[in-house]
Amino acid sequence: MKFLVLGSVNIDETYRVEHIVKEGETISCKGLSRSAGGKGANQAAALAKAGADVSLACKIGNDGLWILDILSSYGADVSRAVVSERAGTGKAIIQVDERGENSIIIVSGGNGLLTGADIDDMLSGYGEGDVIVLQNEVNKLAAIMSAALGKGMKIALNPSPFDDSLLSLPIEKVRYLILNEVEACSIMGEEKISDDVEYRAAITALHRKFPDTVIVLTAGADGAMCFYDNQVYYSAGYSVEVADTTGAGDTFLGYFLHSMESGLGVVKALDKANKAASLAVSRRGAMESIPFMDELLL
Ligand code: RIB
Repeated sequence: MKFLVLGSVNIDETYRVEHIVKEGETISCKGLSRSAGGKGANQAAALAKAGADVSLACKIGNDGLWILDILSSYGADVSRAVVSERAGTGKAIIQVDERGENSIIIVSGGNGLLTGADIDDMLSGYGEGDVIVLQNEVNKLAAIMSAALGKGMKIALNPSPFDDSLLSLPIEKVRYLILNEVEACSIMGEEKISDDVEYRAAITALHRKFPDTVIVLTAGADGAMCFYDNQVYYSAGYSVEVADTTGAGDTFLGYFLHSMESGLGVVKALDKANKAASLAVSRRGAMESIPFMDELLL
């Protein structure tokens, strides 16, 4: 079984600010850094650091080659990355406030320029039982899903960042749906989820809508819930001092999927994913903050 992440690569420009800038306001930042990110690249990094056999397929510009070097150093295969002469690498303008919370603006760059031919090349050699991991920062998601399903691949979908185009995808055919409260509400047409009972109601409603899908609802420091094999599982989060929440969801996803596909079982998979995500939020940055598997054992 192999993982293929077909997703975004971004150059993250992170502005550390006292508070996230408000409408009409101008503020100074306390520090600016440039680092590797993008939900696809982060999730590939998390899978690689967890010990999975993973390739990242993506489209970047020449300005993002250094990110591929970083991913290779983690053990991810990047031979399916397409370097476009026409586009720059995607960018993320990130504000991180004093509590470690963020807000992000994306410039899609090469991430938004996938063609049908790119997708055919990227999926070649994959088949029955392999897992394709998708987020919503690249174009042509419907075509990618249809090609992957045609090959008998399992799909893991992280519907992030959420927009209405996701509602027309065949989510009922997805094996793993990993999402947060905001994304769950958008899919279910609800206002918000507030407490444990409502989390249970939300995940049960998602299960009714997508009965063949393993659904994981993440709640940051409050842990995560999973509807698996007709049962709801809950795993508490780990409490840490928060430095930066950017990339925590990507870390969770990589560790959860690797653990499930290695047969660890849902209870341990949720716990490992929560632990890895808690280590990630205790450090600055996105991809660089993701821990290696041996750091979870310390
Ligand atoms: O999930 C975190 C990521 O979202 C960042 O690295 C940024 O690039 C955006 O894609």
